[in-house]
Amino acid sequence: MIANQQDHSLAYRVTDRFKSSFNTDPQVVRSPGRVNLLGEHTDYNNGFVLPAAINKAIYMAVSRRDDNAIHIISFDLDLSYIGDTRNVLPSGLHWPDYILGVVQQLQELGHPIGGFNCVFGGDIPLGAGMSSSAALECATAFSLNELFGLGVDKLTMVKLAQKAENVFVGVQCGIMDQFASMFGRKNHVIRLDCQSLAYEYVPFNTEGIRIVLLDTNVKHSLASSEYNTRRQQCEAGVKLIQAHEPGVKSLRDATLAMLDQYVAPADALVYRRCQYVVEENLRLLAASDDLNQGDIAAFGQKMFATHEGLSKKYEVSCSELDFLVDFVKDNPGVIGARMMGGGFGGCTINLVKEAAIEDLVAKAIPAYAAAMDKELKVYIGQIENGTSLLS
Ligand code: GLA
Repeated sequence: MIANQQDHSLAYRVTDRFKSSFNTDPQVVRSPGRVNLLGEHTDYNNGFVLPAAINKAIYMAVSRRDDNAIHIISFDLDLSYIGDTRNVLPSGLHWPDYILGVVQQLQELGHPIGGFNCVFGGDIPLGAGMSSSAALECATAFSLNELFGLGVDKLTMVKLAQKAENVFVGVQCGIMDQFASMFGRKNHVIRLDCQSLAYEYVPFNTEGIRIVLLDTNVKHSLASSEYNTRRQQCEAGVKLIQAHEPGVKSLRDATLAMLDQYVAPADALVYRRCQYVVEENLRLLAASDDLNQGDIAAFGQKMFATHEGLSKKYEVSCSELDFLVDFVKDNPGVIGARMMGGGFGGCTINLVKEAAIEDLVAKAIPAYAAAMDKELKVYIGQIENGTSLLS
């Protein structure tokens, strides 16, 4: 299956469901998923990332209520949940928590949230590493900000959406996904410095080349526990360096020489993890130069190098992801490929010459089925704008 265009009909279907459930016209927001070209597992190490918002999104319809109730309907799951703004707690159901977590964070910042009705649905595949959760969190923050006229700026919304996931959902994620969903710009990637939060939009309208996502169809069940472990290992590396170099506050400040000197002798595993992160930051800086100089071939080679690092040093890949990267490696139509996102499943991101896509897909689907006994899904990613109001 190849999914290509933006599916705005979803916005209508979500709106219709809202109207039939709540008998009133809603305010509708679109909040997209994201891809990340380079800079993986660097955000929570204060490093650099290169994400973009895509043509897969959550659509959220909301209206105010006269009481304090929160009525939420998941259009895709066909499930509903009722909560209360005076006592916002984890639902025990998982899916409403992305919304409730944001409500709680807004309240913590002192914003009064009245009762509201909400229907949401979307086409970001769940567990495929395109950040459906960040999209849902950003959709909620943006919707409630508009609905209640809170006047919260976009960066604050990003930060509280990230915190909602940290606190309410329990994943110690960095800031990349929420930032990309909220700040995305059509045909541009965002070069974000996760330390200063300074960012610039880099044009990404590479003639004749498309972003192809190959979805392993493996849900990343290990992802949250291993993700939190990786984060701790990076922190352990920073501590080992800090004993000698107190100025080093994160892996962003560390050099490969410091790792060799202070981390390698103490802990071989922590060393490998930190080495990947420091190398990935350096790689991203060099890759930004590639993009500025229009050298997409050099950029693509760095994507392969990132995959190697994620697979061998950071160990967040899996056999399905490794298979897919290996499968495209010698294809002259493929400029670069690597696993994308947290890991342990989800998608590979591939830069592919337009003329080579059909043949690649025709070969990859049966090869993947034969090797892994699983169905491969294929998405063509288009870079779109970030979270916005539709009505
Ligand atoms: C997940 C997290 C992000 C980031 C990536 C890995 O998507 O939510 O913050 O750490 O993994 O780069």
